Amino acid sequence: MPQPLSARDTIRVNDLLLTVPLLTGAVWPKPLGQAALQPVLVSLSIPHDISSTASTDDLSHTINYSLLCSLLRDSLNDKTPPLETLEALAVRIFDVLFSRLGSDPVVGQAHLKVVQSRAPLNCKAVGVESVAASSSGSSWTADYVKHLCEDLECSTIIGVNTCEREERQNVRVNISIERWDSVVQRHNWVDFRFLTRTLHEKIGRSSYLTLEALASYIAEVTLRHLRVASSDLSQAIPFVTVKAAKPSAIVFASSSEIEIRRTYSDYPEAFARERKIEDYTVDITHTAALALGSNLGDRFYNIELALRLLEASRTVLGSDANVAVVNTSFLYESAPMYVTDQPSFINCACMIETNLTPSKLLEFLKAIETTVGRVPSIRNGPRAVDLDIILYDNTVIDTRQSPRKELDDLEGELVVPHPRLAEREFVLRPLNDMIPDAVHPLLHKTVSALLAALEVLSETAPMCKVVPFPICPLPVDYVFPHPSVDAVPPTLTYWTYPSASGQTRRKTRASSPWRTRVMATLNTTPDSFSDGAAHNTLPAALEYAQSAVDAGTGILDVGGYSTRPGAAFITPEEEISRVGPCIAAIRTAHPQLPISIDTFRPDVARAAISAGANCINDVYAFTGQESYPFPEALQTEDASRTCMSEMKKAAREFAVPVVLMHSRGDAGTNKDYDAYGYAGPSQTVLEGVRVELGAKVDLIVKGRGGVRRWFVIVDPGVGFSKTLDGNLEVLRDAAAITADVYVGSGNRQRNALAGYPQLIGASRKSFLGVILEQATGRKKEPKERGWATAAAGDGRTFPPDHLRNRSSHDGTRQIISFKSIHRTRTLLAESNVGHA
Ligand SMILES: *[C@@H]1O[C@H](CO)[C@@H](O)[C@H](O)[C@H]1NC(C)=O
Ligand SMILES: *[C@@H]1O[C@H](CO)[C@@H](O)[C@H](O)[C@H]1NC(C)=O
Ligand SMILES: *[C@@H]1O[C@H](CO)[C@@H](O)[C@H](O)[C@H]1NC(C)=O
Repeated sequence: MPQPLSARDTIRVNDLLLTVPLLTGAVWPKPLGQAALQPVLVSLSIPHDISSTASTDDLSHTINYSLLCSLLRDSLNDKTPPLETLEALAVRIFDVLFSRLGSDPVVGQAHLKVVQSRAPLNCKAVGVESVAASSSGSSWTADYVKHLCEDLECSTIIGVNTCEREERQNVRVNISIERWDSVVQRHNWVDFRFLTRTLHEKIGRSSYLTLEALASYIAEVTLRHLRVASSDLSQAIPFVTVKAAKPSAIVFASSSEIEIRRTYSDYPEAFARERKIEDYTVDITHTAALALGSNLGDRFYNIELALRLLEASRTVLGSDANVAVVNTSFLYESAPMYVTDQPSFINCACMIETNLTPSKLLEFLKAIETTVGRVPSIRNGPRAVDLDIILYDNTVIDTRQSPRKELDDLEGELVVPHPRLAEREFVLRPLNDMIPDAVHPLLHKTVSALLAALEVLSETAPMCKVVPFPICPLPVDYVFPHPSVDAVPPTLTYWTYPSASGQTRRKTRASSPWRTRVMATLNTTPDSFSDGAAHNTLPAALEYAQSAVDAGTGILDVGGYSTRPGAAFITPEEEISRVGPCIAAIRTAHPQLPISIDTFRPDVARAAISAGANCINDVYAFTGQESYPFPEALQTEDASRTCMSEMKKAAREFAVPVVLMHSRGDAGTNKDYDAYGYAGPSQTVLEGVRVELGAKVDLIVKGRGGVRRWFVIVDPGVGFSKTLDGNLEVLRDAAAITADVYVGSGNRQRNALAGYPQLIGASRKSFLGVILEQATGRKKEPKERGWATAAAGDGRTFPPDHLRNRSSHDGTRQIISFKSIHRTRTLLAESNVGHA
């Protein structure tokens, strides 16, 4: 006990019986939010100088404890509003004491003990003690709180005798937890039910030789529980006293007993690393890697919802909380690893910056799992989303009792780095997308080295990457039950592509096959249509869409503002009026077809998505027309900055894939075709695309408010700001653009474009015309460039016949043409084109 009660004289009330409604603590708990009437015993000690009462023998000089008891009974009975816990009850009693008895004679201090008998199973009583003082009025402060757990009974193997090793015997344990801190602070409250259950299980499983070792183990388990349960690691340090007895051990004495008192510093092994965490304050930002997985329901929706809830931490946890997703991995599809009769998993990882301590973060993640998992149609089913803390700064945390056991039972435990990290491709591969060079604090190997080691052992093909497309616009009757975040759209479809180059289709593990997809492009500028009349636009557009679908097109790209050199300026409103109705009509006719909007204007992108587009295709990669030179343009041009932030917002809000193309700003005014001198004399354009587009993609994907990495498709921009040779260089070795290599000359960095899927748009561009002219000596019109386009793309995936059929339709402008989205492509020897 502390020494607050300094007066020589004390007035006591012992074991006053009150019956109060409590939300927790019933032997068999009521459903959440329902109170049960519970008997509690209240004992009070109030220091009070009784000398005048003693000399006058007059009751009026002392505190009337009859009055005191009736005050408590009046304000705390079965009609009181429900109280959350015993601690809340203690706070209420102090309120009553100091407010009602604040008058003469003054109660300056009180020591309170509230005991609930037969509360949790397996233990006779639990209770809370606290000491509070008031110097003026009804306000009071408390600076000591003690939790009691009396006569916890467990049967276990304990002792050195042969028969003690064979048969369980009872041990009886009293535990008290003392903290020099206020009972008002919630982080000092104890979940008795959970603690006693944990202790009962763990003691039952132990088999110590001595009571001393058992008592020490019990103290450690209790301390661990307090550490994990409390969200605020800067709280007052608890001291745990354990009294343990073996009632049946000694025949001629009632029991043999031991008493110990312990705190964190008594277990340097277990708490050494954690004690560092204790010092963290809310100002310090920590970096953590989280893994996300889903194999239930709309898996993409589940993951996006979990991420949005994570980013809404302030709404959920309060304004002090701070969680920002600053980096994401690609998204992967993989067959389930341990249990195989389940649907395939969608996995990814993200990096967050947060001020939450590991235990608070874990608690938050569990809450998100619960929220996302509340799928009405599935009760008690598997979880819709799984969230794990993989890394937290460089810290090692392990709250388990025996690290080698219980690998599969981490419920309620915190183990960081994740113990199965090294054997899980679905964790390592996403981590490798973000932090390949991070070193595992226990294994002392980089993430990329761990992944490489796993790949050597693995007999299965690597997982596939996927790009999901949402349903746009949201169905009119769509119900989204999470008001704290923007509505997450359901998923329309998703594309699969290999996670590494060289992977063949046969070895693909995912459930959906991957292949090169073809993009058909539809230009809605009026002069694109044969008669140039607006009323023809819709039927013609629908006809093109139908023919594209018939030909097996993967996605239809709709544009309303030409980016070709010298194209006439049009306002965003005009652009919207061209693309909006077209997209809406095509969406109605082809609900399953992914549609991209070719624009660099945020307003147009939003309008198009509302009409039914579910992908943004931007030739300026979110930096607008004035985006060269980059990144300087972003500093100097407000338009560029606004464009970047607005496009990111739109892409994020609607959760749509984005195609980001390499270019050097407005093609009409900018003819800066060279100065790609980033590397030596060879492959300078390739390197230029990696460096220039890489910087933009990094800006779009990384940091707070970034677009998820799995939504990004990169386009090297064939025909944009490149010479003929530059275009050919890109086409010949397009795979190199997204290869995992180092780029830049001086301060070499990993290629920022590594691993992204690529869109290559070569169709009928003028450089093909130039090649054809060189080969045939005759100028070729765009419509005569069909075969060359097919050669530049992939003749096998798209029937060139079809190109020919369409060419009769398109008048003078490119209306429908074909791009392909794929990852690895090496093609186009000049002679091929010559043959075309
Ligand atoms: C003490 O309180 C009781 C109950 O309120 C009352 O009946 C009694 O008269 C009080 N005694 C004195 C001396 O005030
Ligand atoms: C535990 O506390 C109860 C009540 O104070 C007491 O009767 C019992 O003897 C204690 N047991 C041990 C093992 O100290
Ligand atoms: C991802 O984010 C982390 C943490 O901010 C950073 O260290 C890392 O360099 C980023 N990785 C990539 C590939 O951008």
